[in-house]
Amino acid sequence: MSRFDRSFIDEVLNRASILDVVGRKVSWDKRKSNLARGDMWACCPFHNEATPSFHATEAKGTYHCFGCGQHGNAIDFVMATQNVPFPEAVESLARDLGLALPERDPEAGAKDDQAKRLHHALEAASAAFAQALRSSAGAKAREYLTKRGLSQADWDRFGLGYAPNSRTWLKDRLTQGGHSLADLVDAGLLKAPDDGGAPFDFFRGRVMFTIADGRDRPVSFGARTLEPDGQPKYLNGPDSPVFSKSRNLYRYAQARVAAKEKPIVVAEGYMDVIALERAGFAGVAPLGTALTEDQLGLIWKASKRPILCFDGDKAGLKAAERALDRALPLVSAEKTLAFGFLPEGQDPDDLIKSKGAVGVEAVLAHALSLGTFLFQREQDRDPLATAEARAGLRKRLRALTAQVTDPDLQRELNEEMRRSLEALFATTARPAFVPKLRGKAGDGAPIGTATSELRLKIKSGNSRPKRALVDIVTAPLRRPELLDANEEAFAGLFIDNPELDVLRHSLLDLHLAGTPIDFDSVRRHLEHLGRGECVRLVDEARTSPINPHVRPNVGGEEAKNSWLMALQRLETQRALADDAAEAVSAAGGGDEAAFARLKRLVDERRALRAQEANSSGVATDLVGLDLPAVD
Ligand code: UTP
Ligand code: MN
Repeated sequence: MSRFDRSFIDEVLNRASILDVVGRKVSWDKRKSNLARGDMWACCPFHNEATPSFHATEAKGTYHCFGCGQHGNAIDFVMATQNVPFPEAVESLARDLGLALPERDPEAGAKDDQAKRLHHALEAASAAFAQALRSSAGAKAREYLTKRGLSQADWDRFGLGYAPNSRTWLKDRLTQGGHSLADLVDAGLLKAPDDGGAPFDFFRGRVMFTIADGRDRPVSFGARTLEPDGQPKYLNGPDSPVFSKSRNLYRYAQARVAAKEKPIVVAEGYMDVIALERAGFAGVAPLGTALTEDQLGLIWKASKRPILCFDGDKAGLKAAERALDRALPLVSAEKTLAFGFLPEGQDPDDLIKSKGAVGVEAVLAHALSLGTFLFQREQDRDPLATAEARAGLRKRLRALTAQVTDPDLQRELNEEMRRSLEALFATTARPAFVPKLRGKAGDGAPIGTATSELRLKIKSGNSRPKRALVDIVTAPLRRPELLDANEEAFAGLFIDNPELDVLRHSLLDLHLAGTPIDFDSVRRHLEHLGRGECVRLVDEARTSPINPHVRPNVGGEEAKNSWLMALQRLETQRALADDAAEAVSAAGGGDEAAFARLKRLVDERRALRAQEANSSGVATDLVGLDLPAVD
């Protein structure tokens, strides 16, 4: 810490002439400089050059090199050219200016001393809690940790302990060890009652998680109740001179080291981070608050693309969305976020218990990019059945990407949003009853919803399966559990596009063989079958952000039901289409009854479409029931 306070530094900077300070090291270029305006140019002292691109302005008190980018104020210049640390640069400038140096701030020294004492007290507390965990008082806590799969070695590794259920246990121990009551209160270990009574132990009858700072020094504790309904479930130490909830992360020091080789996984809870670390991941968690800007900054210091893995519940999704909003103004090509989604009702700890590290790997591999998550979230806010809703989506996306301050990333994100909108509207904005213009393929129809829609249909012909069909068939690539108990419906599906049908069969084969389904396994399977032409569908599904059946905020059961319903609707539509084809040919022959039947089929189809739009916000035209308009 600097021994000078802000006001003294400001005074030095106000009095120092940047032109004097810099002028001692450079010769000004007479032709380019304007002394009267305090606007001076020289060859840069920081890099080799023949023509001056180094500029200093007296009015601003700063220098800037347009060649090498070096810039700063008088203090920066002294630090850089004399190779001295900040306080010495200030001192040297102050001496030149004849400014008296302030007395060493007695409080600054005292503060350092206090921090040292608090660290000692916290260390002693951590050791005491560790010991209590091994004592007879700690039986229940030991039982709890064992039940959660943590061994003695883990207690040491993660600084776990137990705070006995007493108001004076820690106080007695640490005061006997020479720590003052004031320090123990300041460290957040004791609580001083408002009425001026005697301070008492803050943590009582809880399992203790030591929270350390970036240098791995204990700074606070998280404390979990052992009562099934104990409130709060986790009690965290208060902010103190050595601890700030918003500027620390659980297990940051360890994650930063591990992050040299792997991305940092950001979880919600202490137990999640411990489970992640045990399984070989670099994990951190915020400390009982939403992820802050400072915490994002810390994480980005160690990891360019940390992956958020919050709990698979509403609260977890909310937390991820909040993190997204907080991150938007801060992200750049070098600092971004990805979003992993856990199975419904699970946290990373549960997932590791049930599936091991592979389970987490799968979640990380399927993590959504910032752009994709942003798009899906906005898309899900409102059914897109109307032009107004679609315009609203476009507007919201534009406002959100405008928050990105990195110009390159903003441009890329805008482009991505535009492409996603285009793809989305192509599947949702389809007008009802578009007659198929067989044989007129390929004419460049003019722009306009109905006509461009037509053109899309014609172009797709038989070579490309319909988007809605692709969405249904590729959904299990992202959510293999959709297939559980739905195998029959999926196996009974009739699909007239050969590639898509091969993909469907492959998914079924892998599923029935018990092979885990993901993009890579399916890809390998198709290549093995010699059906390389189908791999394209897998790759497209992998990069396409939009599939209404695999939205992250839809729970497992709900997603399964709605996917099954989509399968069933598909079959109903097909049956309707067969009937209609028959009715059309009969009605064409003048059959009155067939005409009435056709009309009824059209109504039925309309009802089906309405139901479809209600259930998913997406009106799909699954089979291409090419009925003529009859009213
Ligand atoms: P969870 O309740 O999801 O924690 O809270 P968990 O780790 O899954 O809990 P158990 O022990 O396995 O049942 C996630 C995080 O939110 C903070 C804590 O940091 C916790 O680790 N939290 C939660 C609190 O600060 N206070 C609370 O009362 C609850
Ligand atoms: Mn949890």
